[in-house]
Amino acid sequence: DWTPDAFVETTVQELKDEIGNEKVILGLSGGVDSTVAAVLLNKAIGKHLQCIFVNNGLLRKNEFKNVLKQYEGMGLNVKGVDASARFLKALAGESDPEGKRKIIGKSFIEVFDDESHKIEDAKWLGQGTIYPDRIESVSASGGPSAVIKSHHNVGGLPDYMKLKIVEPLKMLFKDEVRRVGASLGIDAELLGRHPFPGPGLGIRILGDITAEKVAILQEVDHIFVSGLKEHGLYDAVWQAGAMLLPVNSVGVMGDERTYEKCVALRAVESTDGMTADWVNLPYEFLQKISNEIINKVKGVNRVVYDISSKPPATIEWE
Ligand code: XMP
Repeated sequence: DWTPDAFVETTVQELKDEIGNEKVILGLSGGVDSTVAAVLLNKAIGKHLQCIFVNNGLLRKNEFKNVLKQYEGMGLNVKGVDASARFLKALAGESDPEGKRKIIGKSFIEVFDDESHKIEDAKWLGQGTIYPDRIESVSASGGPSAVIKSHHNVGGLPDYMKLKIVEPLKMLFKDEVRRVGASLGIDAELLGRHPFPGPGLGIRILGDITAEKVAILQEVDHIFVSGLKEHGLYDAVWQAGAMLLPVNSVGVMGDERTYEKCVALRAVESTDGMTADWVNLPYEFLQKISNEIINKVKGVNRVVYDISSKPPATIEWE
């Protein structure tokens, strides 16, 4: 019978045998899969694992800082690379969804390649690939591995892709990854995190991306997701977030007429992201969150809730 404890024990031994004294680099995303893969590798080879956590400027509010601290607290050998400015510059003026994905993927590869060149004699690239990633074209896990996979064919291969690949979770399903993570002592909150797409808020800002729009959406998303946690709704939802729409609408504030942005909130139930239903969140909750967003986030005067299921809609709007 498969048990997480036995999996950890055999996998750690296999990793030790396979890797020996060689160095491994691994891109952390803040998600469950790359984290569990890193902790397993860390248990097997310790400081021979060098993790890289890239801030693409499109992460959730305070995510880079908080998750980096969490990784350090877990004893991982991790380097945080804040490349926000580089991503935003590359994205300037691009409003096509696939165009944005390509730019984000390419920028990630460039940053990761630069960083991996600074690590002397790395021989391996660790990835948090899980079994469904190898079947599906779009990874719901959204980690750096997903970016790498979908950009395999763009131009010449970056040097780090010439490394030997180690994917300790490649035979596991998501629920098994979570159980392995728990057996490794990883924080339950981290293991229960919603999936988040690799291109991050970049595909939740409809149209072109600016630093100002990112800041607005981070605030909105933060109010929504923290609200879900505070009201005990977070774990009942498979994925949740907010979209910044390219729509201004008229509002009133005191005696003044406003003409400001509209955001759409999205919360879905799903098992694998392939199909999804919108979640019937309590009206009182939506009311409270909507008021809080409009009162606190400058530049937003309207909130709508997305009641579309997948198919025929998708989870993301881009
Ligand atoms: P859709 O919008 O296709 O999303 O219903 C299904 C799942 O995939 C995630 N998603 C992505 N993940 N890169 C990723 O890593 C992407 O470009 C991407 N697009 C969508 C989405 O968040 C959902 O979990």
